[in-house]
Amino acid sequence: MPSYALDGGTSLLARLRTLRDRHPVHQDPATGAWSVLRYEDVAAAGSDWSTFSAELWRAYPEEWGKGDAWSQGRLTEMDPPRHRLLRTLIGKAFTARTVAALAPGIERTVTGLLDAVADRDEIDLARDLADPLPVTVIADLIGLPSQDHALFRGWADGLLSFEAGDLQGEDLVKAIDAAGAELIAYLREHYRRRRAHPRDDLFSRLATAEVEGRTLTEDEVVNLGKLLLVGGHVTTACSLGSLVQSLLEHPTALAEVRADPALVPAAVEEAARHRPAVLTSLRLTTRETTLSGVTIPARQFVSLSLLSANHDERRFTDPDRFDIHRTPNQHLGFGQGIHYCLGAPLARLEIATALTGLLRRFTSMERTDAPLRYYRNPSIAGLKEFPVAVRRA
Ligand code: HEM
Repeated sequence: MPSYALDGGTSLLARLRTLRDRHPVHQDPATGAWSVLRYEDVAAAGSDWSTFSAELWRAYPEEWGKGDAWSQGRLTEMDPPRHRLLRTLIGKAFTARTVAALAPGIERTVTGLLDAVADRDEIDLARDLADPLPVTVIADLIGLPSQDHALFRGWADGLLSFEAGDLQGEDLVKAIDAAGAELIAYLREHYRRRRAHPRDDLFSRLATAEVEGRTLTEDEVVNLGKLLLVGGHVTTACSLGSLVQSLLEHPTALAEVRADPALVPAAVEEAARHRPAVLTSLRLTTRETTLSGVTIPARQFVSLSLLSANHDERRFTDPDRFDIHRTPNQHLGFGQGIHYCLGAPLARLEIATALTGLLRRFTSMERTDAPLRYYRNPSIAGLKEFPVAVRRA
């Protein structure tokens, strides 16, 4: 959705507003998928996994190579009971307590990344901070060498290089699998090392973890690792970039956050609502169902628009305004229901720590004249390059 990014969102947001009023649930003639735009409908569908299944692969013909074996460990593409078992297991790595214990390491990483640009009066907020931070944190957590950052970056680019309309159906499904193949091979090699020589990290723990009396298969662990690495990387990077972008566009809010660091979590939350990194969640209907009076048949792809839901005036007052004092702010930027983002507490902590680090380090931050570069992917929105002029005390 390039226009969302390029013009700060106004034309796309205006279009979504009109669609929410007139066609809140409609079928996209190009893809055949149904778009769901109102908050209430997106939240209801996200909470009803038995009608809106995450097992999208069930819609693909067998010869595409999808199926039970393929879906092993792919938490986002599982329904209960399989989803519940795996989520409970992996959830232990992401409890509030576990995440809080990562805080000192995250702070050290932020400090190190900002030290590396200490002699510059212009930084690339995306390349120098937002991108490497989450990769370093997740690589550490999983047990991968964080100096392989450039490799992760390349794989993420490959996975996100598909633009809306580029490819469809089987071609798209196969191209995405091919883009992830090298990453899978890399993770497999590291998982085998950790299994043979365990350390204190997630891969080592998953090697011996049990679900219903059995240990996880190698494919399950490797696919889970990929999900964490990919799911926690560009999403967090985009959210941090969007937060800083919004604050630079709203100097009063920036001054307030600078004066009162207690406002940082609310600013993080408002950016996740206002410019969500993940634009849509995709589901497959298991039976005929009705949303906003529109009947959707069984076995249809349904695209739940988190961006539109977060800007629904039925739910949020003056929704297109970036307002760090918005309360309540129950946005859908991290999803809804059983697939609610497992990494949300970690992402919030990383983004808040990074913003606090930036505010401490720089007395002023300003956009330069250089053009911003955005991800060009239909479901992820955010800045890939973000030059910012900085001044220190
Ligand atoms: C600001 C950053 C992030 C955003 C905006 C975000 C957004 C989301 C969204 C919208 C979903 C739901 C997808 C769906 O229902 O189809 C999700 C799921 C998930 N996220 Fe995140 N995420 C972020 C960071 C992270 C991090 C840091 C991790 C872990 C390291 C992570 C791991 C996951 C996992 C494992 C799921 C699947 C949960 C399940 O299926 O039960 N995310 N995320």
